[in-house]
Amino acid sequence: MNYRLEQAADRDAVYAVNVAAFPGKEEAELVDKLRETAEPLISLVAEDNGKIIGHILFSPVTLASDSTLQLMGLAPMAVLPQHQKQGIGSRLVALGLEHCQLLGAGAVAVLGHPAFYPRFGFTSATGFGIKSEYDVPPEVFMIKELLPGYLSGNNGTISYHQAFSEL
Ligand SMILES: CC(C)(COP(=O)(O)OP(=O)(O)OC[C@H]1O[C@@H](n2cnc3c(N)ncnc32)[C@H](O)[C@@H]1OP(=O)(O)O)[C@@H](O)C(=O)NCCC(=O)NCCS
Repeated sequence: MNYRLEQAADRDAVYAVNVAAFPGKEEAELVDKLRETAEPLISLVAEDNGKIIGHILFSPVTLASDSTLQLMGLAPMAVLPQHQKQGIGSRLVALGLEHCQLLGAGAVAVLGHPAFYPRFGFTSATGFGIKSEYDVPPEVFMIKELLPGYLSGNNGTISYHQAFSEL
């Protein structure tokens, strides 16, 4: 298995992975839209014998109370159904977090499975006094600080890139 940054030639395969993993095309379309409109992006793929079988995307999110903070949001992530539960998603998360750190992001937010993301150090955003712009149960919106204490003294609402609200 090879894990690497997405390249231009991977776009159709990345679209196909997202269509296969999710019930509809919304996430695949979101990835395409974010590529056009959001910056910086971290887009990683898992490749098995030259075939893209997994994908993860990170895009900038903003905390209303301090627009100078460098924050990334993990979404979406997808692994082809026949390759799930083999650790590929976990590897993509771990690698993605490393790339976010290299980029200089101080923290990463995710809206997702509360049994999965704590494995990578995510904890409920409520512990930081932060909530999602979406009306979701508190345990599904999580944050991981990449720089310890980065969010100290901040609170409020985190918003995703505008492309998310255009879905
Ligand atoms: C979520 C996903 C990318 C995980 O990829 P993966 O390669 O199967 O992940 P791993 O093998 O590293 O880990 C499997 C774990 O993912 C967990 N998981 C994470 N998010 C999940 C979700 N939304 N639904 C179901 N299981 C999820 C499972 O609980 C499983 O836990 P276990 O190890 O206790 O069995 C994959 O299941 C997938 O593509 N799902 C459909 C798309 C999706 O829901 N994406 C997440 C929202 S953006």
